[in-house]
Formats: sequence, C-alpha cells, structure tokens
Amino acid sequence: MILAAGKGTRMNSAQNKVLHTLLGVPLVAYPVESARGLGATTIVAVLGHQIEEVAKTLDERFGPGCVTVVEQKVQKGTGHAVRLGLAPLADFDGLVVILYGDVPLLRTETLAALVAQAKRSGGLAMLTSVVRDPTGYGRIVRDDAGKIVDVVEHKDTNHAQRRIAEVNAGIYAAPAEFLRKATAKLSARNAQAEYYLTDIVAQAAATIGVDSVDVSAEEMSGVNDREQLVAAERILAGRIVAEHMKHATFRAPADVVVEASVTIEADAEIGRNVVLRGRTKIGAGARIDDGSILTDTVVGNGTHVLPYCVASDATIGDNNKIGPFAHLRPGTVLGSDVHVGNFVETKKTRLGRGSKANHLTYLGDTIVGEKVNVGAGTITCNYNGFEKRQTIIEDGAFIGSDTQLVAPVRVGKRAVVAAGATITEDVRDGALAISRVPCKQVDGYADRLAERYVGMKKATR
Ligand code: UD1
Ligand code: CA
Repeated sequence: MILAAGKGTRMNSAQNKVLHTLLGVPLVAYPVESARGLGATTIVAVLGHQIEEVAKTLDERFGPGCVTVVEQKVQKGTGHAVRLGLAPLADFDGLVVILYGDVPLLRTETLAALVAQAKRSGGLAMLTSVVRDPTGYGRIVRDDAGKIVDVVEHKDTNHAQRRIAEVNAGIYAAPAEFLRKATAKLSARNAQAEYYLTDIVAQAAATIGVDSVDVSAEEMSGVNDREQLVAAERILAGRIVAEHMKHATFRAPADVVVEASVTIEADAEIGRNVVLRGRTKIGAGARIDDGSILTDTVVGNGTHVLPYCVASDATIGDNNKIGPFAHLRPGTVLGSDVHVGNFVETKKTRLGRGSKANHLTYLGDTIVGEKVNVGAGTITCNYNGFEKRQTIIEDGAFIGSDTQLVAPVRVGKRAVVAAGATITEDVRDGALAISRVPCKQVDGYADRLAERYVGMKKATR
C-alpha cells in the first residue's frame, strides 16, 4: 500500500510532488517498483491531490489496473489513509507493506528484510533508524527490556522524548487483519488533530508484538522539496553508476546521469557529463566520450561516440565512429563500420555497413546502402512543405560534396554524383550525374575591379 495523497506543498509546484521525476522516473513509481520487486499480489495507492494525473501516470507506466487507486479526499492523517487503502483488501489476509510515494531510496533488500521479519514473528515489523538530527520524525519509545512500546510524533513529544535519536521511517509490514482492527480504533486526539498511523505501534506492542528492522538515514529519507529531490537523484545515480563500474569504466562517475533502465556491457568507457537515458544500451568495449546525450539508443560493440553527440531512438551498429557533434534523431539505424561525423544530422535514415557521412550533412528519410560515401554538405531535400519523401542511395554510390538530393529520388549502385549537383531524377547504376553550371573565367578582372574603386577605397588586390 502506497500512501501518496499529499500535495507536496514545499515543492511550490503546479504539479503534484510525486509526479516530479528522479532520473527520468516519477517519484510515485519507485514504491510501485519496490512492491513489484517484493512480489506483491495487489498494489493499492492512496491518492488525493491531482488524483487523475497521478492515476494516469501509474496506468501508463505499469499498465491499466496494475495499481488499485483509492481516493482520500481530505487528508486526515496517515492512519486514515491506511484505513481507506484497506477497503479493496477486505478479503485479503496476508501481509500488507506500507510505503510512501515520496520515499524513493529504499532498497528492495531492506524491504525484503522487513517482510521476512513480519513473516517470522507474525507481528508488526517497522523500519527504524538512529539519526543525527531526529527533528520532525516520530520517536521510537522502548521499554527497559528494549522492546518497542510506542511511537511519539515530534509535535507530541515531551522534553525527554525529544532527545530520542531512534526514529520511525514510517514503513511497516503487518498482517492485514491486524491493520483493519488497529486503524479502526485510531483517534485524532493529538497535537495535529490527525489520525496517526503510528498509534498502531502501541496497539501491536500490546497484542501481536513489534520488531524493528534497521535502515540507514539515507535510505529512509523522503523528498519534500527540490533540493531533496536533486540530492536523492544524486544518490540514486551514484548507486547505479557504482553497479556499472564493476565492469565498465566511468572517467567521472559523479558527473554522469545514467537512468536505471540503461544497460552497459563489459569494458565500455563513459566520459564526463555523459547522459544515458531510457532504454539505452551500450555495447561491449564501446566508448562514449564527454558530453554525449543518448536516449533510447543502442550503441554497438566497439563503437566510439566522440564528444557532444546527441542521439534518440537510434540504433548504432558495431565498430562505428560517431561525431563529434553528430545528431542522430529517431529512426536512425546504422550498420557496422559506419562513420557519421561532425555536424551530421540523420532522421529515419539507415546507413549500411561501411558507409560514411563525415561532414555537415542532413540525411532525412533516407536509405543508404553499403560502402556509400556521402560527401561534405550533402542535403536530402525530404520535405516539400506538405509531406516527407524518401531518398535511396544504393551500394557503392559516391555522392560529391554540396549535393542536394530532391526526394523522392534514387541514386543507383556505384553511381557517381558530381560535387554541387542538384539531383531531381533517379541516377542510373554506375552513371555520373552532374548538374553544374559551367565554370567561366574572366582574365584581368581583379585589376579592372580595383581600378573602378581607386580613390574610393584603397585597393587590396
Ligand atoms: C510520518 C510518521 C512519522 C515518521 C515519518 C517518516 C505518522 C503520523 N508519522 O510523519 O512517525 O517519522 O512519517 O517520514 O505517520 N499521507 C496521506 N494521507 C494523509 C497523510 C499523509 O496519503 O492523510 C501520505 C503523504 O502523502 C506522505 C506520507 O503519507 O507520502 C507521509 O505523510 P507525512 O505527512 O509526510 O508524514 P510525516 O508527518 O512526515
Ligand atoms: Ca514526510
């Protein structure tokens, strides 16, 4: 059960806090992932503020109905939220794990230990942490034998309790039946006039028993404002990079962003300020140099992406050389041994094995065969203002520099297009296509020009 009815006032945002993203993933998705990792049979989210938007995000991410949404219209406290969340679990008699929409750093291992403890004891298991500054948290009250007997919210503490350094992480595992009974008995007679979920702890202490599982302050930390959001993102990014560092080299591990969904094969090397997002896959021995930003992009084995390339929804083959400053847009598919150089943009374009487009080129809606050389400054004119049209360049063709290929058009096998051509019709296999205005020379022109301007401006030629 995920509690996320709050607005997240301290974000000062038009958007609900739990829709803000951490490494590209909305906050509210983290506990859902945890629940799935634990093998939860049912996932319930208690939502309130912007319920439609949050529910839609959950449906899109996890599939419709994966998360059962319960509305809490007025936030009367965590205890009230859990009582509502239990409604769709009326017939359920297993364990319920309570998570929060704004606590994204909990590790699945920690939660698994919590569940294991609750299973072992049959009682309530809760995560607690001894922290340097317990301000704001509920304090764990233990008896002389060290058994937990209660949780006292910060605002309800007396002087002595305020000094307790062990705090409540707010994460619990307990039998559904106990939660049903315990939340039904809660009252709101406290400093905040709320139904505190924490009051179930004293009830459990008197009945089924309470055990704690230790959690680090970092793991239990919540996201309340933008500073904490970015701090949590750094921590998560660090964990992800540390995992990849077991088999890949990161030259500046603190200065990269690698989303959790990215895969990186052995011996890859990642430079400074690289950003790898979404379903990006980096092949074995590939090198991604400084400043490159790859989204949903596959990089083949042994490929070298030079600095400052941007790619999205692209597939780059093995042993390619890309960039610096290349822009591979969606639908780019490169075979093996392809070179795409500086200031080259590709979109919905395939380049076959061994083809090269090394300088200042735009290839849109283009199929390029194998071993094609695309000269500097080649432009496919793929758009006539109304529709996009295709260019086909067959195997072994040579496109001279500064060529415009006005689509739809086909350049045949081993055809040669002379530099500066404007190709408006198909070029036959093996033919030369030239569309050049003949070059003309005027002898003595420089002197005549200079003479005309004598007195006006000092001749420089
Ligand atoms: C809670 C605990 C506190 C613990 C702390 C850890 C209670 C009474 N206190 O305090 O002991 O140390 O978490 O972070 O449980 N929510 C709802 N509906 C509500 C109220 C809250 O859905 O009516 C959700 C919030 O959106 C949030 C979560 O529950 O995701 C926790 O609520 P919050 O108000 O942050 O609890 P704390 O006061 O921090
Ligand atoms: Ca909180």
